Amino acid sequence: MRAAPTATAVAHPNIALVKYWGKRDEHLIVPLADSLSLTLDVFPTTTSVQLLPGGAQDVIVVDGRPATGEVLRRVTGFLDVLRAHARRHEPAHVDTRNTVPVGAGLASSAAGFAALALAGARAYEIDRDPTELSRLARRGSGSAARSVFGGFVLWHAGPPDAADADLASYAEPLHDARLDLAMVAVLLQTGPKSVSSREAMRRTVATSPLFPGWLASSGADVTAMRAALATGDLPAVGAIAERNALGMHATMETAIPPVTYRTHASHHVLDHVRRMRERGEQTWSTMDAGPNVKVLCPVSDASRIAAELGEVTGCRTLVARSGPDATVTTGVPT
Ligand code: PMV
Repeated sequence: MRAAPTATAVAHPNIALVKYWGKRDEHLIVPLADSLSLTLDVFPTTTSVQLLPGGAQDVIVVDGRPATGEVLRRVTGFLDVLRAHARRHEPAHVDTRNTVPVGAGLASSAAGFAALALAGARAYEIDRDPTELSRLARRGSGSAARSVFGGFVLWHAGPPDAADADLASYAEPLHDARLDLAMVAVLLQTGPKSVSSREAMRRTVATSPLFPGWLASSGADVTAMRAALATGDLPAVGAIAERNALGMHATMETAIPPVTYRTHASHHVLDHVRRMRERGEQTWSTMDAGPNVKVLCPVSDASRIAAELGEVTGCRTLVARSGPDATVTTGVPT
């Protein structure tokens, strides 16, 4: 028997400047609000998908090891979405290689599911319109919808009364953004997180008294962020991003029971970034579902700022810039 051809795709993580936090539809992964991100040029994930005609079940390998538990369940569930879309039944062999520490709030799931959506769509011969690929990636992990595109990206939640919520929620690149932004990641901790972002979001939406206020302000943040990106206004971009991220953490920290991703070390970096700003540096912080802090700054200052943050924390730092679209690198012939 001839082996089925393999499709391989590469995608990069993205960091939201206006965060996605809270779902309107848990099953379809439709968010409560729009979000806006920057796809990075570091930590790509490469994923290969090979169909197994006549095979009994999916085989999922992550970083050289057979996937188990929640990861296996999520990837298999996503392959089911692709199969339903393609009206096909073959199981698949998935081999995925991350270069980002998994589960550390650096969005490995975004790059992972974007790469899997592209490679899987190619393997199962699904329509490859980028908007459709973004919708598909969303079904794996919400933020993956944004990693389908490079640069600054807007993910539409879609109207609350949309007739087809799945169709209405997808990401698109922002072509009018005029800003060369750097992001310094301070890698405080690279172990897996204690509470998944999925669970943390659910708990926040259900129980935090601060959540409705943050959600309402994030709509205005997207509008202001778009305007600031279009005029290349870095201080406005930084200020909106920092306040939006700190607000998101305030919502989860007031959930019942609270979700606390910020550690003592995170607060130390947040304080230091504020002090740098007070002495005239252009530095603003953002954080995701983990303890690491990412610092927004001008590209020309990034290596100096990374060196200072490395010295102050004793931790590894890394400078990222705007990254590319997700791409299929080797594919099943069309
Ligand atoms: O896609 P998920 O379920 O990993 O959600 C990630 C949400 C945040 O990273 C915290 C914010 C965002 O918009 O990326």
